[in-house]
Amino acid sequence: MTGSNGSTAVSDQPVLPRPEGLEGVVAASTALSHVFGEEGRLVYRGYDIHELAGKASFEEVAYLLWMGELPTASELADLRAKLGAERPLPDQVIEVIRALPASAAPMDALRTGVSALGAIDDRHFDETPDLDEAIALTAKFPGILAAFFRLRQGLEPVAPIAEMNTAQSYLYQLFGREPDEKHWRPLEVYLTLLADHGMNASTFTARVIASTGSDLCSAITGAVGALKGPLHGGAPSKVLDMLEAIGAAENVDAWLTAALDRGERLMGFGHRVYRAEDPRAEILRGMAREASTPEFFELSRRTEERALTMLHERKPDRRLYTNVEFYSAAVLSAVGLPGDMFTPTFAVSRVVGWTAHVLEQVANNRLIRPQSEFVGPTDKHFVAIERR
Ligand code: COA
Repeated sequence: MTGSNGSTAVSDQPVLPRPEGLEGVVAASTALSHVFGEEGRLVYRGYDIHELAGKASFEEVAYLLWMGELPTASELADLRAKLGAERPLPDQVIEVIRALPASAAPMDALRTGVSALGAIDDRHFDETPDLDEAIALTAKFPGILAAFFRLRQGLEPVAPIAEMNTAQSYLYQLFGREPDEKHWRPLEVYLTLLADHGMNASTFTARVIASTGSDLCSAITGAVGALKGPLHGGAPSKVLDMLEAIGAAENVDAWLTAALDRGERLMGFGHRVYRAEDPRAEILRGMAREASTPEFFELSRRTEERALTMLHERKPDRRLYTNVEFYSAAVLSAVGLPGDMFTPTFAVSRVVGWTAHVLEQVANNRLIRPQSEFVGPTDKHFVAIERR
């Protein structure tokens, strides 16, 4: 039976709304962050992202998301000391990462490393998730990725330096030398921008897993898997692929037209919630202008302008704008990261939001268990195998 609102029910099933992709369904209450889609605003714990970007450090933002308030100087120093102390990886985790083929995707290495950490670390990750575990896991994300990044090149992992901040330490562990300020500063702003974003797919995944009473590493392993998909966090390397395929400003129109004629989606545009420009895209555009080469910035800008015009012509009622991924590509490549490290670097930031959501979920938990609409038959009779 199909109800007037498009709902379907079988026999005793109640008529329930079933929006495609759960669009518009409220899956949790959160005080962490909110996306105001119509206005193009993102708020963390009451602060507009423009209040924080370029002013608050990544560690301050992490404290804000976990604790609800910006830290005092001594609270921040305490958090930085804890992050620094928790950065080293257990040797067995490095051995698990070493066993992966160099051809593995870094997101697969991260997912494997987080999962291995859950099995190996005997101080954490067995009971109800807590803040110390959130800090420990956040501290270890850069090291897991950097270990894989180096091992796949035949290089040994580099031990972290506790006094460095997260952005510095990540670049140090990746490249084995003290990073330039012109590299770690834009990375730090990038990390503050990506730390949380309402009820996105990977956050929902983490909360669902946490709601079953499972442990923090399990919840975050699932979230990494959800972030990997190109409709969520997997787009920025594809933006880089697109810009490299376009190659020069004079090719932009022909390339975009051909892609849209083939029915492809243009990476870095469109969003489930924003019906205006993603506020993070605006901040990243400014950073890309500073950090990337003039040629690459010009190619990005020209591609963005033409893509927006074409999308508005072809889908006039859809309100498609630039999303966070588009200029992430220019910023992260200017920082020295190859394309396949873009989504993992997103995860280095988002682990803060994921763990904060898990802590919020377990503080007031109810098992997340939705329904499915049953569309299969119900009246079949068993036939013995020799008669089938
Ligand atoms: N390029 C071309 N067309 C696009 C588009 C894009 N980037 N994004 C959306 N559209 C079109 C869809 O084809 C669809 O058209 P139709 O209704 O004629 O079929 C319409 O706009 C709405 O798309 P819909 O699939 O309902 O949006 P969604 O909310 O499910 O998807 C995204 C949102 C982000 C998955 C989608 O915009 C997308 O695939 N973008 C490219 C990938 C990307 O940048 N991801 C990073 C997100 S931060």
